Amino acid sequence: MFHYQDLSIMIHPEVYDPAEDTFLLVEAIEVKPKTDVFEIGTGCGIIALVCAKKGANVVCSDINPYAIETTKKNIENNIHLLKGSIDVRKGSMFKVLNKGEKFDIIIFNPPYLPTYAEEKLGGWFDIAVDGGRDGFKLIKPFLKGLSRHLKKNGLGYFISTSFADQKKLQKIIIDFDLRSNRIMRQSIGEEEIYIYEVKIK
Ligand SMILES: C[S@@+](CC[C@H](N)C(=O)[O-])C[C@H]1O[C@@H](n2cnc3c(N)ncnc32)[C@H](O)[C@@H]1O
Repeated sequence: MFHYQDLSIMIHPEVYDPAEDTFLLVEAIEVKPKTDVFEIGTGCGIIALVCAKKGANVVCSDINPYAIETTKKNIENNIHLLKGSIDVRKGSMFKVLNKGEKFDIIIFNPPYLPTYAEEKLGGWFDIAVDGGRDGFKLIKPFLKGLSRHLKKNGLGYFISTSFADQKKLQKIIIDFDLRSNRIMRQSIGEEEIYIYEVKIK
């Protein structure tokens, strides 16, 4: 258990521990009351909780059943602090959404590390960090789904790393007809992480 702002957050050995990337994303995103937010890959639910504390109505999801269980407990433990709502759904990427469901903000702290087969440890940790050979394995389907599930003028947020080819990422973003801004960066040892804000052109 740890505290973030006034939230009490339980963690779980099979669920991603919030780290620099999580906190950078939380700080970068401006969320207004009554905003509709979708967070993919919620982990222990901390980003969804911060958004709901600010009054947003949040749908959050994860493919990891332990993440779903942990997020539900964290909602229960912090329910008195939430001005908005949180709906937790188990499943992959945009598959948890109904057709036509749209959001002002869609957030994903994805598995973004370029990973080779021999580097994999197996289990839920890999699912949380393994971004495939180029680091974009899940960033691509995220970018693809935005045009279907963002409201007009909606914004998408995700993270990438200096260990992945940022020029290639720019091209992928343009190919999906999106416009992007790198709104924050942070050095972590030899690595730099970047927060991208994207919108539909
Ligand atoms: C880097 S962790 C981020 C967790 C949390 N949002 C945070 O920032 O601390 C990535 C999360 O994405 C989830 N994930 C991986 N693949 C997914 C998929 N296809 N659909 C939904 N969630 C996925 C993982 O289980 C993990 O919880």
